[in-house]
Amino acid sequence: LNTNVQFFIAAYLVGGIPFGLLLAKQFAGVDIKSSGSKSIGATNVLRVVKEKDPVLAKKLGIATLALDAIKGVVVLVTAYFVGLSEATLWAIAVLAVIGHCFSPYLGLEGGKGIATGFGVMMFMLPLETIIALIVWAIGAKTIRISSISSLTAVASLLVASFILHPEMAHAPVVFIVFILFYKHIPNIIRLIQGQEVRVV
Ligand code: G3P
Repeated sequence: LNTNVQFFIAAYLVGGIPFGLLLAKQFAGVDIKSSGSKSIGATNVLRVVKEKDPVLAKKLGIATLALDAIKGVVVLVTAYFVGLSEATLWAIAVLAVIGHCFSPYLGLEGGKGIATGFGVMMFMLPLETIIALIVWAIGAKTIRISSISSLTAVASLLVASFILHPEMAHAPVVFIVFILFYKHIPNIIRLIQGQEVRVV
């Protein structure tokens, strides 16, 4: 297999590892896919495990966030040192997010892509991602609804990329942003109905 294709497959398979599901099952004995928002991300780990053990919930939430964010970056950094092109790196970034959101290990179900998207974007567009992180932190502190902070941060990243890098091909960024919004449709519906659950 051609090197690019090997990396594409690796990005999808590594991106698909459902760390939140595994950690919550292993260390708290809970199935986050059948509780809370049923998502496999850090937010739902925090939410579901908190009912059992708030201290453990924080630890597992942070671990999930870190591992989900790092998994795509590991593949990207390796590809970078192998000398693969910028376009290939973007495809790897997109495939890692697809892996997380449509996991091969979970019958193509998965998470909402915020942590994994954050990781790959931090590698590809650090400045824009730091701006998004600031927006996320402000949202998380004030509004305290995970999906709102996530989606405003994602939107701000896209806007920032058009302002700071007008020359680049924005298709991969737009595509990742589209996937993240698509995966948040249930959250958006709950927000419109005023029924979105707070993080904790
Ligand atoms: O990062 C995911 C977050 O935006 C929403 O997660 O579990 O509240 O649907 P959740």
